[in-house]
Amino acid sequence: MHIPLPFDQRTTVGAVSTGELPALEVVADLLVEVHELYGDLDEGEVADYIPALADADPSLFGVSIVGVRGASLSVGDALHPFSLQSISKPFVFALVCDAIGHEAAREKLGVNATGLAFNSVMAIELNEERTMNPMVNAGAMATTSLVPGATPEEQWAFIADGLSRFAGRALTVDDDVYRSESATNLRNQGIAHLLESYGRLYADPDRTTDNYTRQCSLLVSAVDLAVMGATLADGGVNPLTGVEVISATTCKHVLAAMATAGLYEHSGDWLYEVGLPGKSGVSGGIVTISPGKGGLGTFSPRLDGAGNSVRGQRATRYLSEKLGLNIFASKPLPTTSGVGSAG
Ligand code: DON
Repeated sequence: MHIPLPFDQRTTVGAVSTGELPALEVVADLLVEVHELYGDLDEGEVADYIPALADADPSLFGVSIVGVRGASLSVGDALHPFSLQSISKPFVFALVCDAIGHEAAREKLGVNATGLAFNSVMAIELNEERTMNPMVNAGAMATTSLVPGATPEEQWAFIADGLSRFAGRALTVDDDVYRSESATNLRNQGIAHLLESYGRLYADPDRTTDNYTRQCSLLVSAVDLAVMGATLADGGVNPLTGVEVISATTCKHVLAAMATAGLYEHSGDWLYEVGLPGKSGVSGGIVTISPGKGGLGTFSPRLDGAGNSVRGQRATRYLSEKLGLNIFASKPLPTTSGVGSAG
């Protein structure tokens, strides 16, 4: 996979921003620019394996950035609601890490990339440990099964409350999407039962699949994604509400898991070109985190073959380059004596 840029990196001086997002007017101009640049890009297909998603308008496109100091800028269809889908996974993983500890979470769930599709069954069979990572369906359902609560209803209340605190507002379920996916999720049901047969699901498989389907059906917008991302970028504190949703320790482990497998079998290409932890969803959302700086939310329903939004990937790469967010980027220190300064 390659995410092309409309300029030659080799001849364009790359930005490497300091610990802060650049000035808001710079960010605002770039949002307008990126929306104009990719607004007519019609590569990719709207998802249809969940029938309710097939009705999405492929022309929709919204981009939003929220800084760790609370600044919020958006362009296009940034308030248009869509279902959270797989973007729910890193946030439920974060809540579980905080509840049982990140080491126990790793032991029970795994954190290594599978290199296979998001809903792969083969990945379970190929791994003797039968663990996955929390970003693919199998690992995500195992994560949902670990959510605190004596009953599936209590577990659901914990998930809905936790994800709403990340968004800074009460999130609600899209009943049409929930019913549509519940009527067609036999593969996920099969994955849950297979994990249970290996002792890698920690609650009832059918109730777990149901709660997982609900979390995927929560309605958000690109603005909500940017707020949720900014919360992970700000050590677990929601920059709009000031609420500490999770610990800073948990944040760094969640971002590592996102970097590893957030874009599934294309996660290596994504890091190579965008250089930031990100997570995509099959309804067309992508959340991307610039640690210490802010969160980026994009929405466009046209997807590539791996289930990742095409415009979302292009826009995120462009902004990462132009805003200097790539965590792997550095500029050579100016040397005075021809020898680098100590330390
Ligand atoms: O479980 C599923 O298949 C969907 N609820 C979520 C999949 C998804 O978002 C894949 N991401 N690109």
